[in-house]
Amino acid sequence: MAKSVVEKLKILFVSVEVSPYAKVGGLADVAGSLPQSLKAMGHDVKIAMPAYRMVEEDPAYKCKSVLKDVHVQINPSWSKLAYVKQTMNGKVPVLLIGTDEWFTETDRSERIYLPGVDQYLFFSRAILESLKQMDWIPDVIHCNDWHTGFIPVMMRESNDVTWAHVASVFTIHNLAYQGEFGPAVLDRAGLSRDLFTYDKLETYGMVNFLKSGCAYSDQVNTVSPTYAREIQTAEFGCRLEGLMRHLDEHGRLNGILNGIDTEVIFNPEIDPAQPAHFSASEPSGKSACREALYKELKLKPIKDAPLMGVVSRLSNQKGMDLMIEAAAEMFAMPTQLVVQGLGDPGLAIQYRELQKRFPNHFRFMEKFDADLAQRVYGGCDMFLMPSSFEPCGLGQMIALRYGTIPVVRKTGGLADTVFDGKNGFVFAHRTVSDFLYALKHAHSAYQLKEKWGALVKNALSGDYSWGPSSHEYEHMYYRAAGRRTVIRPGSQAIAGS
Ligand code: GLC
Repeated sequence: MAKSVVEKLKILFVSVEVSPYAKVGGLADVAGSLPQSLKAMGHDVKIAMPAYRMVEEDPAYKCKSVLKDVHVQINPSWSKLAYVKQTMNGKVPVLLIGTDEWFTETDRSERIYLPGVDQYLFFSRAILESLKQMDWIPDVIHCNDWHTGFIPVMMRESNDVTWAHVASVFTIHNLAYQGEFGPAVLDRAGLSRDLFTYDKLETYGMVNFLKSGCAYSDQVNTVSPTYAREIQTAEFGCRLEGLMRHLDEHGRLNGILNGIDTEVIFNPEIDPAQPAHFSASEPSGKSACREALYKELKLKPIKDAPLMGVVSRLSNQKGMDLMIEAAAEMFAMPTQLVVQGLGDPGLAIQYRELQKRFPNHFRFMEKFDADLAQRVYGGCDMFLMPSSFEPCGLGQMIALRYGTIPVVRKTGGLADTVFDGKNGFVFAHRTVSDFLYALKHAHSAYQLKEKWGALVKNALSGDYSWGPSSHEYEHMYYRAAGRRTVIRPGSQAIAGS
């Protein structure tokens, strides 16, 4: 039966990072907040993530056991026992899928992604097995990024009728990470090498997990409408642009803009990390946040200089190289800048040097500190994101929520959320001169009190919540569920809608 628009769905949201339990990037924020919004719409939602030891052993999460000794047959000669624990993220149950061999790191920092793929083969099979034992068979399994790409494959290739009418949805958070392995991974996954063809699992001589997830899913989406168009071109398609065009032609590719948690986590009216609070109707607290941030950074304000912030992984994707090239001219305007982030060691060296060269203009906070990040969003005047590509980007939305004006490159989700001269400043080409041009515009607007006030007000009054986008997800789930009713169980390929 096709799902009618009023019918509530059982949705399993699968991600290997989920905020607040385990976070490396924006995927965790999405996994921590979108399911909440779907739950509030009345759907029966659960999250599945690996049982990282650091999470299950944290007393704050009060994990309780759900299943023990689940037999997971990964291939004919390799099986493992899994267990399932559960914690609650607000009203959404989070299933932690574990085993004694993987996800056992106890150290919280950056240990989420370890090399290899066997842990994800296990995770994928263990989820399907556990759902059966829990007798909770979802209407939709929503997979995110390449680590979960084999779940739809296993559902369709298992010949297990349990999954015949369960729809699968795959979200691409960043097409640049595809998860490629030699064909032997198919033996380890317990899948036939007959599937090593271009319409199924093969791409350029490798098994490609992201492509597999897309090919086998009923609906695919990425995290902004502009990125959904960009990935159909050679420039942004990371060699999968043909597949993306094909999915689009068959009504299976969607672009749905991310939201952020505007109520609890990113709310300038109550944010405990801020020294003062503010809103669109009461914006004055922002200047107290700015003053306090200067003190915290041990930076002396320069007259008429806007304080600009960056919270980012240090990588060229985020335009961190461009910022170094533009620095001297940028500081001469004058401006001041704080960068908080970790990442590429080569870039980190250059940022350390930049701080030595410009001690009155620049601070490099080389760490991940969530509270300081909030204060950078809250206390700065501008927020820089000169990304080379950006599937969605959450930083610019958080900045907007805090009345901090973004200066961004017109790409992906940045193009869908920041509008030149209205709530931010936008430049087109990835060149130092284009970037500086936008910064000069921003800098001169900053000198005009009224104009700047209007920009800040626009930013503060925008809606960055999941509201509209969670309805789009709901519609995509219905389309996915509808497709399950017209497809022969067990048959799956790229072709057709
Ligand atoms: C990835 C993308 C980023 C997006 C996030 C959440 O980190 O690079 O643009 O906002 O995923 O979808």
